[in-house]
Amino acid sequence: MYAVIMAGGKGSRFWPRSRRHKPKHLLDITGKQTIIQETVKRIAPLIPPDRTLIITGADHAEELRRQLPDIPPDNILVEPVGRNTAPCIGLAAIHIRRRVGDAVMAVLPSDHLISDGNAFLDTLAAAAEAAERHDALVTLGIRPTVPETGYGYLERGNPVESIGGKLLYDVWSIREKPPLEKARLFLEQGNFYWNSGMFVWKASTILRAIATHLPDLHRGLLKIEGVLGTQHYETVLKEIYGEAPSISIDYGVMEKADKVLLIPGDFGWSDVGSWDALWEVSDKDDSGNACCGQVIAVETGDSLVYSPGKLVALVGVQDLIVVETEDALLICRRGESQKVKEVVDILEERK
Ligand code: GDD
Ligand code: MG
Repeated sequence: MYAVIMAGGKGSRFWPRSRRHKPKHLLDITGKQTIIQETVKRIAPLIPPDRTLIITGADHAEELRRQLPDIPPDNILVEPVGRNTAPCIGLAAIHIRRRVGDAVMAVLPSDHLISDGNAFLDTLAAAAEAAERHDALVTLGIRPTVPETGYGYLERGNPVESIGGKLLYDVWSIREKPPLEKARLFLEQGNFYWNSGMFVWKASTILRAIATHLPDLHRGLLKIEGVLGTQHYETVLKEIYGEAPSISIDYGVMEKADKVLLIPGDFGWSDVGSWDALWEVSDKDDSGNACCGQVIAVETGDSLVYSPGKLVALVGVQDLIVVETEDALLICRRGESQKVKEVVDILEERK
C-alpha cells in the first residue's frame, strides 16, 4: 500500500502562527512534532516512508524535505500551482502506476489530528482490504456531532461485509459542504457521516473514476504520464496544470461516483480548522485553560494561550484566545476564531 499525503494547504486560520510560508501542517501546533511529521509517523507501521508520497507546492517543498528526512526526496511530488485535490490525487496516482503498475493508495490530508493511532491503523488496513476486494472508492466516515457545513457528508447505505471486525457499508450519496438546513437534516436522519477527507482506493480505480467524471483532466494526466522520468516532465506538468480546472475530488468525482463504500472510523479525529477547534482538542487544566509557553492565568477560564517567547499573564478573563509570536499578537474571543481569516485578508490587501 502507498500513502499519498496532500500538503497544499494555505492555512490562514492559524494566523499569526501560520503564514504563507508556514501553513498549519508545517507547525507544531499540538506537540513537539509538526502536524505533517505526526501524520507520517502515525502511518509508518503500515506504510513505510519509502512508500509515502507527499504532494505539495514549490514554496513548501524544501521545508518538507527538511522536516521529513526519512522520506526519499523523489517521493516529494511538487505541483507547479495548486489546482485543488482532484488533479493532485490524479498526479499521485500516475506516479504510483509508473512505479509499480497498480497499488492501493491511502489518500490523506496533511493537517488532521488523530488521537487513537492504533484504531486509525486498524481502520486503514480494513479500508485497504475493501478497496482491493471490491475495486471501489473507500471513504472513512466520522460520526457527526454538530451540523458542520465545512465538511462533506456520506449517506450510509446497507452493510456489505465485515473486514477485520470493521463493518463496511455502501454509500448512497455524498453531499459536499451542504447548507446548514441540510446538514441539520442529515444529523437528524442518523445515517450520515462526516467525510474525513481520507480515501482508500487502487490507483487504477481512481484513475478510471477520473476518466469518467473529469475526462479532460484524465487526458492531461495521461500526457504527464507519457513524459514521466524524462526531461520534458516539468514543462508538460506546468502546461497541463496551467490548463487544469481547480476542482476538489469531492465535487469532481466522489459526489458523482457509483461505487463508493464507507468504513466508519472512531479514532479521535479532528481537522483542527481553527484556534477554537484546537482549544476543543487540547488538554486543559481544571479551569478549562489550554496554555502553551510562558503563561500565568489568574481567575481566568476556558481560554487558549500560546506564548513561547514572552511571559503572558491573564487576570479575570474568560473565553479568550491569546496567541503571541515574534511579530504579532492575536486576541480573539473564543467562538470567533473563524474570523481570523479576515485579518489575513486585510494584511494581504495592505501589501
Ligand atoms: N498538494 C495539494 N494541492 N494539496 C491540496 C490542494 C492542492 O491543490 N488543495 C488542497 N490540498 C490538501 C490540503 O492541504 C488538505 O490537506 C487536503 O488537501 C484537503 O483540502 P482542504 O482544502 O483542507 O479540504 P476541505 O477541508 O475544505 O474539505 C475536505 O476535507 C473535509 C474534512 O476535513 C473534503 O474532503 C470534505 O468533504 C471533508 O469533510
Ligand atoms: Mg481541510
